[in-house]
Amino acid sequence: MPEKNALCLSFPQKNIAVLTFDMPDKGANILSATVLDELESHLDELENQRDLAGLIIISGKPGTFIAGADIREFVTSLQATEDHIVAMCRRGQTLFRRLSTFPCVTVAAIDGICVGGGAELAIWCDRRILSSRTSTEYGFPEVKLGLYPGWGGTARTPRVIGLSNAVEMITSGDSIDPQTAQKNGLAADVVAPEQLMPAALSLVQEEELTKRYLKDRETWSGTINISETELGFLGVTASAHIRNQTKGKYPAPEAALELMLSGTNVDIEAACQLEAEGMTALFGSPINASLLNIFFLTDRNKKDSGIDENGVEAQDANQVSVIGAGIMGAGIVAAHLKCRIPILMTDTNEAALQSSASAIIKEISYNKQTKSHDVQRAIGLSPLLNLTMSDAEVSRSDLVIEAIVEDAGIKKELYARLEPLMRDDAILMSNTSTIPIGTLAADLVHPDRFVGMHFFNPVRQMKLVEVIRGEKTSDNAVATAVAHAKRIGKSPIVVNDGPGFLVNRVLLPYMHEALELLSEHVAVEDIERAAKSFGMPMGPLTLYDVVGIDTALYAGRTMWEAYPDRVVASPILIGMLKAERLGQKSGLGFFSYQGNKKRGIPDPGLAKFLEPYMGEARQFTKDELTYRLFLPMLLEATRVLEEEIVRDARDVDLGLIFGLGFPPFKGGLLFWADTIGAANIVELLKPFKHLGERMKPTPLLLEMAKDGRCFYQ
Ligand code: NAI
Repeated sequence: MPEKNALCLSFPQKNIAVLTFDMPDKGANILSATVLDELESHLDELENQRDLAGLIIISGKPGTFIAGADIREFVTSLQATEDHIVAMCRRGQTLFRRLSTFPCVTVAAIDGICVGGGAELAIWCDRRILSSRTSTEYGFPEVKLGLYPGWGGTARTPRVIGLSNAVEMITSGDSIDPQTAQKNGLAADVVAPEQLMPAALSLVQEEELTKRYLKDRETWSGTINISETELGFLGVTASAHIRNQTKGKYPAPEAALELMLSGTNVDIEAACQLEAEGMTALFGSPINASLLNIFFLTDRNKKDSGIDENGVEAQDANQVSVIGAGIMGAGIVAAHLKCRIPILMTDTNEAALQSSASAIIKEISYNKQTKSHDVQRAIGLSPLLNLTMSDAEVSRSDLVIEAIVEDAGIKKELYARLEPLMRDDAILMSNTSTIPIGTLAADLVHPDRFVGMHFFNPVRQMKLVEVIRGEKTSDNAVATAVAHAKRIGKSPIVVNDGPGFLVNRVLLPYMHEALELLSEHVAVEDIERAAKSFGMPMGPLTLYDVVGIDTALYAGRTMWEAYPDRVVASPILIGMLKAERLGQKSGLGFFSYQGNKKRGIPDPGLAKFLEPYMGEARQFTKDELTYRLFLPMLLEATRVLEEEIVRDARDVDLGLIFGLGFPPFKGGLLFWADTIGAANIVELLKPFKHLGERMKPTPLLLEMAKDGRCFYQ
């Protein structure tokens, strides 16, 4: 008999049963195997009860209905046989399906998050009522784990809300809000959270009288009424949209689409069977394993305070100043305003302050839902923004984020002026992308209250923030930076001070290798294709053009000064700088941007330009090109681990996914390396021995190869 502790049965009225999910000691309800057993025994008991008018399923945790299946159980089943996978799906389907054939009407009363397995449980109920709480969301995010809903979600949802709505929800993995749920027929009603139970009770009474749910039961258990023409049109348009989004790298959305299309002509039982059988192609696949890893990386990051000591609390940060109204300053300010945090922005240049202010207002007025600018939104948020050219105002700030020009001298001069004005407990942060935190902190009276806070460009898109701990930075400053970054919706990782910190350090060897390949006569398009087919969002040469050759050279200087044995300034970049081929910004880089400022086209003059830099021609296979690009990146990551730049190897993977767009379906750089194995990587490096230090296995890699160790234990 399973331990009964997640569900509680009560009878607010004699003939209405309420099952309340409330897992003890957990912030959210999760559908583990034990919880399913518990649900089953309650259903067994209730099914035998005569004269029940309704069963209501609700959560005892305000703001969370059910947060999904227990993903840790998935991981332990990754090696499961096909029969076992089918059985896992059938188990959930059969159990939840009982809610659609129960002796009385079943109602899910949903307040807060209702996703994954929770959304499947609720979709099998006859009716759903959602609370109007802003955090209430309903969704099937399984495709984000390389799966689709396998407890009947793909079979039942199209029957309840229509095929087109179901395709959109399930293939995108995006949640919908209560209003959309009501519009598409998923929610029978939307009410205030405190009205949820009364509304569910009266719905039960109403359904008991009208018996409308019985009619729906009949309709939803059969085939789906849709014409061949409609089906064909939906299939073609949805498939094109999915291909465009996934670039063919993520099979789950397409599998879900095909499944839902083929499930239209059969009854619900056969549709469930198809769903269970189709799952065998996805569950346990390398992509599923990689995406599960991303889930755990993200989950760990959310819980990580950034420090290893217990008992260090982050400081409250309600008054924030940003110094420097450039590209980064404006992005940082907008991120705060979107979270309704009052913010002060200063700059020595009035014109910069004004033009950033209008860029900020434009950004914060954008409404993602309507995809348009919303003046009311801007009017609501703009009083939180205070612009000034005076330093004096920082005296009230809890946090001061410096985002001025990348010049150590100018930054230090600014700090000398600011520090005496700042409160004794205020923290100073720098958005420097290259200057060591130790250098910037050298003349500070309170270097313990100074920390790096490296946002990525564009701030509105990039989730990553590197929180850089200088030698003298206090735990309190680190914890405050981490908590604050999370508060404005970012994913911070803590790194120790060092050249290039984490992301730029690991990026540079990869970028540099692209130039080496060019000088070995590899065509531009072959280099770009190798990176993109690996899954990078853009090729390295395009990235040079986007970043700007001058900026790339500047950032690279930190690395070649620190590691001259393996990193050198590429003569190609120096030549490009001289020729003013600066990339997108000058209209010409590795590509030409004459016609279209954003999208480069091949430059017929590039070959001639590169002639003086050409070395010996070599032939490369596709795999060799991939390894030439990505093994230097991996080797650098092993050096980062050797030097303990990060606190945990998992930070490398998350940092590169969020900071560089490293392909999530590979699970992270180190996760990908584990799929090859350290010993095999050492073998793969052997043919590149002639390239010297930059392709030499590091002591850590050799040790791992010898011991058969992985980065993820
Ligand atoms: P930017 O050149 O767009 O803006 C710098 C702003 O600082 C200008 O408006 C300038 O008037 C102002 N400024 C200069 N000296 C000042 C002073 N003493 N007091 C007040 N304001 C002053 O520069 P951007 O790109 O916004 O970069 C700012 C910082 O962020 C730099 O440290 C940079 O390395 C870093 N960063 C830049 C990234 C990028 O992609 N642009 C990415 C990540 C970090």
